[in-house]
Amino acid sequence: MILYFSGTGNSLAIARQLAEQLNERLTPLVDAAGVDMTNEKRIGLVFPTYDFNLPPALPEMVSRLIISPKSYVFTVVTCGSMAGNCIWEMRRILRKKGIELAYSHKVSVPDNSALAFGRNPNKQLKKFERVPARMEQIIRELQAESHTLHYSWFSLLSWLLGRPAIENGMIHCLGPKVNADKCTGCNTCVRVCPMNNISLSDEKAIIGDNCTVCLACVHACPQQTIRTNGQEARKERQYRHPDIKLKDLIKR
Ligand SMILES: Cc1cc2nc3c(=O)[nH]c(=O)nc-3n(C[C@H](O)[C@H](O)[C@H](O)COP(=O)(O)O)c2cc1C
Repeated sequence: MILYFSGTGNSLAIARQLAEQLNERLTPLVDAAGVDMTNEKRIGLVFPTYDFNLPPALPEMVSRLIISPKSYVFTVVTCGSMAGNCIWEMRRILRKKGIELAYSHKVSVPDNSALAFGRNPNKQLKKFERVPARMEQIIRELQAESHTLHYSWFSLLSWLLGRPAIENGMIHCLGPKVNADKCTGCNTCVRVCPMNNISLSDEKAIIGDNCTVCLACVHACPQQTIRTNGQEARKERQYRHPDIKLKDLIKR
C-alpha cells in the first residue's frame, strides 16, 4: 500500500510510480486514517518537505494509521532540494506507534513554494532530469527490502536543531489568503484542498483553521485569487507536476 499526501502533484507522481512498479495500491493519506492495514506486507509513505520538516498535518495523520510492526514501512520524501529533518521526524512518530522505519530516501523536484518568494517553480523543471535515476535506485532497493535510511549531513543537522521554531511563522506568512473581490466562487480551491479546509460562503472561498500550507489552492485557482506570503499567484508561476492533472488531485 502506498499512502501519499500532495498539494501540487510532485508527491502523487512519485507515489504513483512506486505503486505501479511495486504493484501496490495507491491511497491518499487523508483517507487511510482508521483503516485496518495490519495485513499489508509493505507500506510506503510519500509526502513533501515543508520548512525542512514534515507538513504540519502529517504527524496527526500518521499517528491515526493502523499498521503492523511486521510490515515493511518506508518513506519517500519529495523536496525542492533539502528534506531536512523529515526522515528523523517520521522515524520518531512511527516509533511511538511501535513501528520501525525500514527505508527512506528523497527525490528533488521543483519547489512549489518558490512563488511565495516571487520566483517561478516552472523554471525548475530541469530537476526532473535526475528523477529517473533516483527512482530506479529507490525501486531497486525497495524490491530488495533494503533497510537503509538515506540521509545527508544537513538532515542530521536539522535533526539536532529539532523542529524549526519558525513553523508557526511559516503558517502565518505562507498561509493562503483569498482576495474576495476577485473570487468567483468557482469551487476549484474547495475541491483541491487535501485538508477539506476551504468552503464557500456567499460564493466566496473561505479558508478554515486547518491549513497545512500545501499551497494547492494557490496553484490551482483559475482566477489567481489566492495570495501566499503577500505574493499574488501569477498564472505563469502557478505549478502542477506535468504528469498530474487537476482531477487527479481532486479525485479523493
Ligand atoms: C510551505 C512549504 C515549505 C517548503 N519547504 C521546503 C523545504 O524546507 N525544503 C525543500 O527542499 N522544499 C520545500 N518545499 C518544496 C516542496 O517540498 C516540494 O515542492 C514538494 O515536492 C511539493 O510536493 P507536492 O507537489 O506533492 O505538494 C516547501 C513547499 C511548501 C509549500
